[in-house]
Amino acid sequence: MKSSGSNTEAPGRGPRVLVVGGGIAGLGAAQRLCGHPAFPHVRVLEATARAGGRIRSERSFGGVVEIGAHWIHGPSQGNPVFQLAAKHGLLGHQELSEENQQIETGGHVGLPSESYASSGGRVSLELVAEMGSLFYSLLDQSREFLHVAEAPVPSVGEYLKNEIHQRVAGWPEAEEAKKLKLAILNNFFNVECCVSGTHSMDLVALGPFGEYTVLPGLDCTVPGGYQGVTNCLVASLPQDVMVFNKPVKTIHWNGSFPEAGETFPVLVECEDGGCFPAHHVVVTVPLGFLKERLDTFFEPPLPLEKAEVVRKMGFGTNNKIYLEFEEPFWEPGCQHIQLVWEDTSPLEDVAPAPQDTWVKKLVGFWVLPAFGSAHVLCGFIAGLESEFMETLSDEEVLLSLTRLLRRVTGDPQLPAPKSVLRTRWHSAPYTRGSYSYVAVGTTGDDIDLLAEPLPADTEKAQLQVLFAGEATHRTFYSTTHGALLSGWREADRLIALRDPQVQLPRP
Ligand SMILES: Cc1cc2nc3c(=O)[nH]c(=O)nc-3n(C[C@H](O)[C@H](O)[C@H](O)COP(=O)(O)OP(=O)(O)OC[C@H]3O[C@@H](n4cnc5c(N)ncnc54)[C@H](O)[C@@H]3O)c2cc1C
Ligand SMILES: *[C@@H]1O[C@H](CO)[C@@H](O)[C@H](O)[C@H]1NC(C)=O
Repeated sequence: MKSSGSNTEAPGRGPRVLVVGGGIAGLGAAQRLCGHPAFPHVRVLEATARAGGRIRSERSFGGVVEIGAHWIHGPSQGNPVFQLAAKHGLLGHQELSEENQQIETGGHVGLPSESYASSGGRVSLELVAEMGSLFYSLLDQSREFLHVAEAPVPSVGEYLKNEIHQRVAGWPEAEEAKKLKLAILNNFFNVECCVSGTHSMDLVALGPFGEYTVLPGLDCTVPGGYQGVTNCLVASLPQDVMVFNKPVKTIHWNGSFPEAGETFPVLVECEDGGCFPAHHVVVTVPLGFLKERLDTFFEPPLPLEKAEVVRKMGFGTNNKIYLEFEEPFWEPGCQHIQLVWEDTSPLEDVAPAPQDTWVKKLVGFWVLPAFGSAHVLCGFIAGLESEFMETLSDEEVLLSLTRLLRRVTGDPQLPAPKSVLRTRWHSAPYTRGSYSYVAVGTTGDDIDLLAEPLPADTEKAQLQVLFAGEATHRTFYSTTHGALLSGWREADRLIALRDPQVQLPRP
């Protein structure tokens, strides 16, 4: 007989583990646990009807397009997503080549092949390259405050703007040419907002900016679709592990919940009323979801310090807008089209009036490899303007972009795109944005705190709630490899409880 509250598992049966969320972090955790004999009872509760989360590939325009993750960042041996994709034959010759793996990009986005000005006509690529090299050298400098006692200003945006402000005085050009240079720099700021998944670089903390680690390798896509990676993980799990359409409502922890002669410390309550008792729960829901549901998702609530981190950490929006064309208006071989708004400058604050100006935040387009007869561009847009775009209809988005393209190409007859497909990550109820960033007021230590399991005092009670997901990885946050490593980390933490051979993961 067990007394209530003893929370012991039935002999010989092993602990019950629930993973909340079937993105790459949750799938990684489940895969590792299922591979260990001490964990025969693992379930992944996924809110939606599919696995993969923010890795999502769809067939469209006669090819495959990425709704979520686009590139493997730093595809080289140290990147577990690269390793997995390579092992399952998802990468081509070029992506696998040693040469590709050794390229050091410093995490910088490549320069455009064509640059259009808002008044119509082209911007000199030489000038774009000059501004690109200025911008990225300053961005590299902003990573150097990691071990400095105090950063000179709170945000990356303010730092970059101060540095640019100082340089402008020394520019020899006439006023008009200076304005164009600033307008080009403004585009690089907008690109960086997409990279960081934020509305403004003024929201991104300067001191911890250098925590993010760039792996070697020239960023590559997964030719058959990024989702091939998560599909492989799902296929490696035993049949009944995945439970779909099971949104979790509340995680009751620090309790003692009896079922079938056993007593469990955790009870996971689902939106449909279903309840699952467990010894351990690995929470991998996106930070955006966690922010929205903070008051009701945990019972008892998260410790104050941890709840504060959830509130303060950054989680913004980056969306894609795909456009399909009958005929390309860009030149053969063009890979990336930049849009420069001549009346913008990073040194001037604009009052947000998203209704008519949202398109100004669009950074430009990446040219997809041609799908047969379809010619497809992929535009990126971040921040509040991106969230506003989500509220528009497809027709409105198509109309705005047709106008924009006619304006910048100076061709009022430019045929409208045949179709449009855009992502709406801020509206997605189980995501509420795109990915995390280290916001002003937070540090790398806060990321580690978010990753700390509960209860905090494991002397008194066993681990009950563990935290994984992109936002819990101190150096690879916002990426698929960060998410996967975080899932493995939490699985290892549980395995270490049973198996003294396994080293306890470091935060
Ligand atoms: C537009 C976009 C572009 C990106 N581009 C790149 C890129 O190029 N390279 C890169 O490395 N990364 C990129 N990322 C980031 C990358 O996709 C994520 O970091 C990664 O996929 C996150 O994995 P995860 O498992 O932590 O979270 P997710 O994949 O979001 O998984 C969480 C899962 O939890 C589920 N869930 C949520 N709430 C509940 C609930 N209450 N109950 C049950 N289940 C729930 C969700 O449905 C989801 O399936 C991009 C992301 C976006 C949105
Ligand atoms: C957990 O339960 C114990 C015993 O009931 C209680 O003393 C403690 O305050 C609880 N912890 C939390 C975080 O609610």
